[in-house]
Amino acid sequence: MDAVVEQQVKTAHPKAAIVTTCILAALAGLMFGLDIGVISGATQFIQSDFKVSDSVVEWIVSSMMLGACVGALAAGWMSATLGRKRSLIFAGVVFIGGSLFCAVAGSPAILIVARCVLGIAIGVATFTAPLYLAEVAPEKIRGAMISTYQLMITTGILLAFLSDTAFSSTGNWRWMLGIIAAPGVLFLIGLFFLPDSPRWLLMRGRREDAQVVLAKLRGDEAVVKKEIAAIDEQLKTKQHGWSMFSQNGNFRRSVGLGVLLQAMQQFTGMNVVMYYAPRIFKDMGYDTHAQMWFTAAVGLTNVLATLIAFGLVDRLGRKPILYAGFTIMAIGLGVVGTMMGLGIHSRGEQFFTVGMLLLFIVGFAMSAGPLIWTLCSEVQPLKGRDFGIAASTFTNWATNWVVGVTFLSLLSGIGNAQTFWLYGGLNAVFIVITFLLVPETKGVTLEQIESNLMSGKPLRRIGR
Ligand code: BGC
Repeated sequence: MDAVVEQQVKTAHPKAAIVTTCILAALAGLMFGLDIGVISGATQFIQSDFKVSDSVVEWIVSSMMLGACVGALAAGWMSATLGRKRSLIFAGVVFIGGSLFCAVAGSPAILIVARCVLGIAIGVATFTAPLYLAEVAPEKIRGAMISTYQLMITTGILLAFLSDTAFSSTGNWRWMLGIIAAPGVLFLIGLFFLPDSPRWLLMRGRREDAQVVLAKLRGDEAVVKKEIAAIDEQLKTKQHGWSMFSQNGNFRRSVGLGVLLQAMQQFTGMNVVMYYAPRIFKDMGYDTHAQMWFTAAVGLTNVLATLIAFGLVDRLGRKPILYAGFTIMAIGLGVVGTMMGLGIHSRGEQFFTVGMLLLFIVGFAMSAGPLIWTLCSEVQPLKGRDFGIAASTFTNWATNWVVGVTFLSLLSGIGNAQTFWLYGGLNAVFIVITFLLVPETKGVTLEQIESNLMSGKPLRRIGR
């Protein structure tokens, strides 16, 4: 190793470097959360300002997800050619521009376009940030770093709910949508301090740069050498996503599993609450002020319950937590639907129904929220990993769009109680699907999962 690398190793502060690097990249999760959360408090004011129907509101909410589908599809190519860091910078710039564009939109149609632009940023970021995190974090803390990403998503949602609550007294939805550009600027500035991903540098043949970055991050020459050799070895395995998908039935199974898992995550109904919480509280009989505060309580519950998953995933395993989560969600939504069907008359009944909705949030945040993302990256074989993760991330946004664009129509079409029962019922079905198809990947190496998959074992046996 040459003198430059030796010099870097001597002056490195590896712990600080790795932690700041990962926190910065995880801030992409914060942007994701801000985007998801910000719209819920704004819709009622947008609707009365523009005097539009529920179906236009559904489009304003869900156009962002369409943009994110496009962003997620483009992100694979972008992060390979421009690199991870520059893709994140692109996402940061578009995020800031998109938020400001939303704030000044003069008509519902322009707002729909602006939300779509914002979505592109989030689509790119949701593909690139976890990839970058996995590439710069040392093996030992990789899991924790990916969970940090989910924690940042929930924190972003909470911050957006709180800021919406603060602006709700004036009803100024333009400020609600525009203010999130401010954390976007901080994120963007931070991004300029990120090193390029060493794996990407090696992919581009920039060996010396890769060594320098790793030396700074790891602070140990021997570790740097070992890691460079390991990446070299991995890079020999060329990514053959599409051809592998068309020729290999086992790979099609893992891609199908990733797609199914993300569809399950979205059809739990979580984003119904994320996007329309104030409307749900309105239907429970609460005034605007109470609606906003309960929405903030939803956000806080989401953050706190995510911490439960942190403690449990590597101890209990994925499947028991998913069973518990889907069961809690099915019960929570089933009871909310029943209360809405019976009619919520007293204060006690109101509180009880809010409690059940919060129980549902706990169920999601401790299980499907973080775990589905984890499982989706674990089940793909090395050669098809980028393709497999792009397919599942795309599905996350596409099904997210379906949920967002149909909720108000469902409420008016089949009724409040039936809508919640529908989602509650789907959660019950997911318990069965988890049993039949989801593997337990706790403590199993990725190589073992891959060899089980390729030997044709049933999906639920590709883990332990
Ligand atoms: C999901 C998002 C959801 C968020 C809520 C994420 O894992 O992908 O769609 O809004 O969790 O915390």
